[in-house]
Amino acid sequence: MTTRILCVCLGNICRSPMAQGVLERLGREAGLDLEIDSAGLGSWHVGNPPDPRGLTAASMRGYDNSAQRCRQIVEEDFRRFDLIFGMDQSNMERLRRLAPGGARATLRLFHPDGIEIPDPYYGNLEDYDHALDLIEAAGAAIIGELAARRPG
Ligand code: 4NP
Repeated sequence: MTTRILCVCLGNICRSPMAQGVLERLGREAGLDLEIDSAGLGSWHVGNPPDPRGLTAASMRGYDNSAQRCRQIVEEDFRRFDLIFGMDQSNMERLRRLAPGGARATLRLFHPDGIEIPDPYYGNLEDYDHALDLIEAAGAAIIGELAARRPG
């Protein structure tokens, strides 16, 4: 059965696109049946590709996130996805407020150790690289957890 995962950040151009790329690759390598998407809480960048600095940081590690396009989260996402991950506590607060009654999705902070993925938008390439370090560590833990729960 497909597990549907949505990665959410504020703008959907920096952190959540990188998180999507990491989960897609690790999930594929683990042979898991996953559908991964990402979305933003804000609408500023809807329709745009990820931030070029994030694309560069990710491509240096072999990810190609260039086909992704920014979208804003919609109420239906809370019914469609099994897991919705926020990148920081502010994302989590907004997700909890947006979640409709009877939502299917479990809301969780992306990093399982309670670490927030810092917003690199006002930073430089090093900040994207640091965010990606944390995203890769969190992504490996998430995929490990899902692989352990795999039936059969
Ligand atoms: P993200 O970073 O939430 O990691 O995509 C941001 C991108 C854009 C803005 C804020 C955060 N913005 O205000 O436009």
